[in-house]
Amino acid sequence: MERTFLAIKPDGVQRGLIGKVISRLEEKGFKLIAMKLMYLTNELAEKHYGEHKSKPFFNGLVGFITSGPIVAMVWQGKDAVSAVRKMMGKTNPLEAEIGTIRGDFAIDIGRNVVHGSDSSESAKREISIFFTEKEIIDWKPEIQKWLYE
Ligand code: RTP
Ligand code: MG
Repeated sequence: MERTFLAIKPDGVQRGLIGKVISRLEEKGFKLIAMKLMYLTNELAEKHYGEHKSKPFFNGLVGFITSGPIVAMVWQGKDAVSAVRKMMGKTNPLEAEIGTIRGDFAIDIGRNVVHGSDSSESAKREISIFFTEKEIIDWKPEIQKWLYE
């Protein structure tokens, strides 16, 4: 089963949306296999968002993502990367469909509540930035047989 990295950004934590975001993924049937509440250092934030280094919004993005605690998580399930991206909605929350996390909870592109890996390669890279193998708990939910054929 595929793994993806999901983070609740400082705006989501400050606004009390941790539980709601986690509930959506739990209710969908994805399995939480790692989680921590943490501050991102500048170094880690620049590494995580390295692909955007040349973009005009890079400094603002790094400043924002380090401005308060985030919740870093790994979720596992069938096609988890693309399914979680779909549940997050488009980057600009005003373009995100209602029913998605960003579509329901956010307005501004720079305050869009969640980050999610955009490919399985990104997922592998991001998971290894945030978690050691020991911190990933691959447990077997008893409900599994009711979720998958
Ligand atoms: P994320 O990486 O945070 O999950 O978001 P994403 O894949 O949907 O979007 P991405 O292109 O990777 O951009 C990363 C974050 O940078 C901010 N951004 N601002 N002002 C702008 O034009 C702009 N474009 C992107 C957003 O907060 C976005 O989530
Ligand atoms: Mg991205």
